[in-house]
Amino acid sequence: METKTILITGANGEIGHGLISHLAEHDGVRVVALDLNALDDATRLKCYKSYTGDILDSRFLESLSTGHDFDVIYHLAALLSTRAERQPTIAHKVNVDGTLNLLEMAITQSRLQGKEVKMIYPSSIAVYGLPHAAAKNRAGRINEDEWTDPRTMYGINKLYCERLGKYYMNFYRQLDAQPMGGKVDFRCVRFPGLISAVTLPTGGTSDFAPEMLHQAAKGEAYNCFVREDTRIPFMAMPDGVSALLKLEAAPKENLSTQIYNVGAFSPSATDLKERVKAAFPSAVINFAPDLKRQAILDTWPADVDDSRARKDWGWKPEYDMRKAFEEYLIPGVSKFYKTK
Ligand code: SER
Repeated sequence: METKTILITGANGEIGHGLISHLAEHDGVRVVALDLNALDDATRLKCYKSYTGDILDSRFLESLSTGHDFDVIYHLAALLSTRAERQPTIAHKVNVDGTLNLLEMAITQSRLQGKEVKMIYPSSIAVYGLPHAAAKNRAGRINEDEWTDPRTMYGINKLYCERLGKYYMNFYRQLDAQPMGGKVDFRCVRFPGLISAVTLPTGGTSDFAPEMLHQAAKGEAYNCFVREDTRIPFMAMPDGVSALLKLEAAPKENLSTQIYNVGAFSPSATDLKERVKAAFPSAVINFAPDLKRQAILDTWPADVDDSRARKDWGWKPEYDMRKAFEEYLIPGVSKFYKTK
């Protein structure tokens, strides 16, 4: 079997942890991990190589690229939506300039290796922007082309980078007399909120769901920063990882687009509270909406239409809401805090 070399940026993040743990169980893969902060020992040991470095540092990326032939780049590094509102210029640098640097690296790698290099990119439901809660309720499940008028820095960054990826794949340096060669095979999933049993997100606006669960497991009270009726789509982390891997593995000729919604379940904040309380009956969960973060959530869709992903590459979540809580989140989070 041929061994694939995979670069993962943002390796220390939630998706990075999940993806690296999964890949470590499979042969034929060499993971090269990159993050701004050093990886914890357990994650580092699962990697072929790990680097501490900044995706905004072009010279560092150049030296990284010189040392490896990457087949696939999972570009996960990003500042999430709440943090990005607090530091918009830094977010723009990391989310946009960082992605541009990785796309340039992919083109260079492809040229040097004489073959296509895949870039797998997680986008987000934050690319959507419904004008108000009434429109959101009316719209229901929305497809990839509807309501793409984001109102957050993060959503704008993600939407633009989706388009950058398509540009690098289809129109890069289209006026050159002699095309320089080099091809990026850019593929992107728009994730809903992700919930992991073993990690917590930082700086996201969908964080209320994982925070509610983890606080309950720790036996700590939680003031949820959204209204009870807030509804956005969520997904269990193993499905998030599997969506990325399935899209990477899909035959190119099956893909009718480069940007895919993926959905799993779409609970209200009350539904989440009921699930958490069923597992941790003494959990104290109150609702204390932060009106500004709420306003962002009111622009994100209540659910997504992921029929293109289902049709083109067989997307199907393993975990609906019941299974996610009963078979993954509750046992996982309970074990996690017991062993801490
Ligand atoms: N989880 C992200 C956030 O809340 C959205 O994709 O920013």
